[in-house]
Amino acid sequence: MASIDGFALSELEEGVKWCDCLLSQLTDKIDGSLLDLNPGLKIVANYAVGFNNVVVPDATSRKVPVSNTPGVLTDTTADLTFALLLACARRIVEADEYMRQGKYESWDPLLLLGCDVHHKTIGIVGFGRIGYAVAQRAKGFDMKILYTDTSDKDYAKEFGATRVDMETLLKESDFVTLHPFLDASSHHMIDEPQLRIMKKNAVILNAARGPVIHEKALVKALKEGWIGGAGLDVYEHEPAMEPGLAECKNAVIVPHIGSASIETRTAMGMLAVNNILARIRGQPLPSCVNPEVFH
Ligand code: DGY
Repeated sequence: MASIDGFALSELEEGVKWCDCLLSQLTDKIDGSLLDLNPGLKIVANYAVGFNNVVVPDATSRKVPVSNTPGVLTDTTADLTFALLLACARRIVEADEYMRQGKYESWDPLLLLGCDVHHKTIGIVGFGRIGYAVAQRAKGFDMKILYTDTSDKDYAKEFGATRVDMETLLKESDFVTLHPFLDASSHHMIDEPQLRIMKKNAVILNAARGPVIHEKALVKALKEGWIGGAGLDVYEHEPAMEPGLAECKNAVIVPHIGSASIETRTAMGMLAVNNILARIRGQPLPSCVNPEVFH
């Protein structure tokens, strides 16, 4: 590790000094102090649709365009969200463990009873691209759809979906799935008061960003039975998990694999690279989150 003014430099800090373009991951913190190491940097191409790891105003004020990878991972992330939903509802992970441990001796009417998914109510928080794709899947399961969204779009006709306030959504949904962008308004949007008003058997799903849920409160809710379960792809202090979460049998926990299919990760890479190539060629970027840098 090299050093500058007595401070150790990370690999990222070292690298950014000599590169023209930065292809960053969601685990890389990109802020003004990093960008200042290379005033000639042409682009930050984030290999993710979420870009909460980039302090965009810092990039904008330095005239550095930031791009992300929207669209190409929508269906894959919605698939994973639904996989978590089904796994929680039908206790798939517990059942798998049961078999592997050689516990299955005889069919039993009460063995590993879960809950139905079809005709239940799903509450979709944040009806952007991924929320919309989850609704398409929910429709296939004949679910009743409630949603909250900051846009004015009305999905009543398309999905028979009902727009409600957050409190109603939390009180009435059997499955609550979170799809907001992570910012100050969505940080800890699910905390103790929200968990306490959910149905006792409700399942909460998060394939967005960990800090949307206050994980300490969630572990308490899972342990004390305020809610029925949780399906989590993301964590508040990733890669760490809140102590106690791993022991909760009513949680299905996977390591941020929402977009992890070969096809989708390839498409994300292609989009990130196409943003870089467009920048080098002086062409419009396919997906720029701060286009104002070009004005
Ligand atoms: C994203 O793109 O924001 C996901 O979290 C990783 O694919």
